[in-house]
Amino acid sequence: MPAIPSATLSTAWHALNAWQRGGHILGALEAVHEELGDVFRLPLPGFDGIFLVGPEANKFLLTEARDHFRWRAEDDPVTRLLKHGLLVEDGETHHALRGMMTPAFHKNRLAGYIEIMQRRTDQVTDGWHDGDHIDLLVEMRRIALLILMDTLFAEDFSQQLAALWHAILRTIRYISPGPWLVWPGIPRPGYRRALRQMDEYLYRLISHRRGSLATENTNMADDLLSQLIASGMSDDLIRDQLLTLLIAGHDTSTAQLAWSLYLLLTHKDILAGVRAELAGIEDDGPLTSAQIKQMEYLDCVLKETARLYPPIHLGSRIAASDLSFRGYRIPAGTRVLYSIYLTHRQKQYWSQPERFDPERFNGEPANRRPAYAYVPFGGGPRNCIGAAFAQVEAKVVLARILQQFDLHFAGRTVRPRMRATLEPSPGVLVKVRRRS
Ligand code: HEM
Repeated sequence: MPAIPSATLSTAWHALNAWQRGGHILGALEAVHEELGDVFRLPLPGFDGIFLVGPEANKFLLTEARDHFRWRAEDDPVTRLLKHGLLVEDGETHHALRGMMTPAFHKNRLAGYIEIMQRRTDQVTDGWHDGDHIDLLVEMRRIALLILMDTLFAEDFSQQLAALWHAILRTIRYISPGPWLVWPGIPRPGYRRALRQMDEYLYRLISHRRGSLATENTNMADDLLSQLIASGMSDDLIRDQLLTLLIAGHDTSTAQLAWSLYLLLTHKDILAGVRAELAGIEDDGPLTSAQIKQMEYLDCVLKETARLYPPIHLGSRIAASDLSFRGYRIPAGTRVLYSIYLTHRQKQYWSQPERFDPERFNGEPANRRPAYAYVPFGGGPRNCIGAAFAQVEAKVVLARILQQFDLHFAGRTVRPRMRATLEPSPGVLVKVRRRS
């Protein structure tokens, strides 16, 4: 069998140049991909992984050969943090947890979340005043956290926002790329307090809810937290699911919202198109599912944003047995990564891939692409459980903000930065004016 093309010193040189030119490390990954093709090995000191790019590779990893891959890696910071959370479990355990949580994300439940999403957005934007300079990356995180905690766990997180803000950011940093990827045993001082604070909060929340469920009419409590408690799960296991959803369910939406607003504010014609669509929708009452469905152009904008800057830009697995893909051998134990970012920029499927062009998603037959050429939410049985939730949420939040405010981008050059998600760095600074 042929050897998998592997990065050499010359590849590394080209990658470094691309990194410097583009100002972000994903430029380096693009240079390696361009040189080595859709299957390549990146043998970094301490980190040896095979990258797979493109629809065929995504289909292989996410569906066809999915049972031959596992997610869980004991020394991975994500596993250390989430312990036995849905995201880091495999096989039957994953299947059982997924089955338990899926109803909270069902289409019928989403309609009931719209009012909360709208109210929580307004709660944050009520604090915006004419002339204020705000960072949309910060503001979108506040909105996403309030929405997540209220919709899924029936918890008003307003009081905790400030108290836990630093702990949440530290928790995200704990699972972001860093030297610990290449040196898993490296000491990680400076996180203990934040992680303990998160745990204290989550265990307190579980205990309070257990108490109120014991004294109230439990039939009324149909939020996910109450249902996990009712299922007989231990506090530890519930903590793992809560933290999984708290992090996976808000950090991604934060990035998606901040990138969408950034791209709209820097593409006036597209912003005008969105505003024209929203003009047909009343802004003084609660939004309905039907109105959310009508936001077709905004839908294209969101899809195109997630193509260019997929909040999760990479998925990682471990080969559980010897595998072969396109004639290459992948031995058991190998780390295999599917690159959403590179797949979304393949020239054969996306003309001028760097361009922000929502029209790519307008449903014309000419715009059809092979399955798995667009995978912002992954695919197969491990796809994003919150995909539909996130799409409704993004439309509600953006519609509310764009209906009520004019925002003027007032920041410096924005570049993608790899944290737990792909964030606009150094943030999205804007000046606010309320529309009359
Ligand atoms: C724009 C927003 C979002 C994006 C782009 C996104 C992306 C993804 C992707 C790509 C995966 C699969 C990763 C893999 O294959 O390894 C995933 C999984 C997951 N996502 Fe999301 N996500 C988003 C929002 C959400 C929300 C709102 C929630 C919950 C409220 C959520 C919860 C999860 C969970 C729990 C998993 C693991 C599912 C499993 O392993 O069964 N995500 N997400």
